[in-house]
Amino acid sequence: MRRGETNFAQMVLVGAIASAVGIVGGLLIDWFPEAASTQSGPIDTLWDVLLIVSVPVFVLVTVVVVYAVKYFRMRPGEEQMDGEPIHGNTRLEVIWTTIPSIIIAALVVYAYLVLVDIEKAPAEGSAKERRVHVQARQFAWQFRYAEKGADGKQIVSDVLYLPEDESVMFDIDAEDVLHDFWVPAFRMKIDAVPGITTHYRVTPDKPGKYSVVCAELCGLGHAFMRTDVVVLSRKDFDTWVSEQGAPPEEASEEADGAQGDAGGADAGKALFVDGNGTSIACGACHTLADAGTNAETGPNLDEALAADDVAAIKESIVDPDAELAEGFPKGIMPGDYGQTLSGEELDALVNYLDKVTSK
Ligand code: CUA
Repeated sequence: MRRGETNFAQMVLVGAIASAVGIVGGLLIDWFPEAASTQSGPIDTLWDVLLIVSVPVFVLVTVVVVYAVKYFRMRPGEEQMDGEPIHGNTRLEVIWTTIPSIIIAALVVYAYLVLVDIEKAPAEGSAKERRVHVQARQFAWQFRYAEKGADGKQIVSDVLYLPEDESVMFDIDAEDVLHDFWVPAFRMKIDAVPGITTHYRVTPDKPGKYSVVCAELCGLGHAFMRTDVVVLSRKDFDTWVSEQGAPPEEASEEADGAQGDAGGADAGKALFVDGNGTSIACGACHTLADAGTNAETGPNLDEALAADDVAAIKESIVDPDAELAEGFPKGIMPGDYGQTLSGEELDALVNYLDKVTSK
């Protein structure tokens, strides 16, 4: 064989080996977190197929470029030489246009079929689909259910609770800027857009606790805009629903559920854990041992407020940027608590915080 032919054969061989290595490597990597919805399977398979098809294309292009540079470059003394003048090669052009077109068309059809499959409504006659309203705002999530709690009020939670094996449709709204409602374990995400309501549906199929993440850069607190989704068995979910809005059990430290009847000393704690319907609950962003919350968007209040008196605590609520806790930038905490909380509510909250954080 002439040198050019040897190089060409080598190039094909190296390309084939590199493609095989790339595909095997790509499939061995654990790209995704645990899968917890019926939508996850088809999406993960789609990913694998895309990987198997696209790795050889990438490898082919790279190998050809590297080979061309190495073996067909101009050498010293060849400055005046020139290759044969080529005026196109119809057969080659038809081939390199047709093959990619077929690959792309096939992948588009396949991806479309997967999309139709994962978005389809539950079959007629099966249980009615659950709807959960997702409210996004800087920098917290809130979930509103159709069900009413024991106190007759619509159930609102900062943690998403869902029953297993039941289709749920999310109605997603944003109050301020773009956010993105992403549950990696469900493999689904969509933008939350001010002014319009977006949707997606999933069927969780594995009980457990997974992350809810904001996937759209939405401000200084974006990285902290996280909460959990807890997938429960049908029975446990019904129990959770029935506990919402019920008077707190004797000395219960549990934050998930216990919604205070809010009389006297409990009022501040109830506000802390559940908010007042207008403002975001403090517990959605702050850790406080007494309230049983463990969020990390804002400072840990057991530490941050330990040395503060009533006046300082009040200031940190109504004017959060006046004095910042170390490691937390300006603007993370909404500055409108002075408006969204009544004077009475504010006092209850401040007294409660003073009581449980002073040494
Ligand atoms: Cu909300 Cu990023």
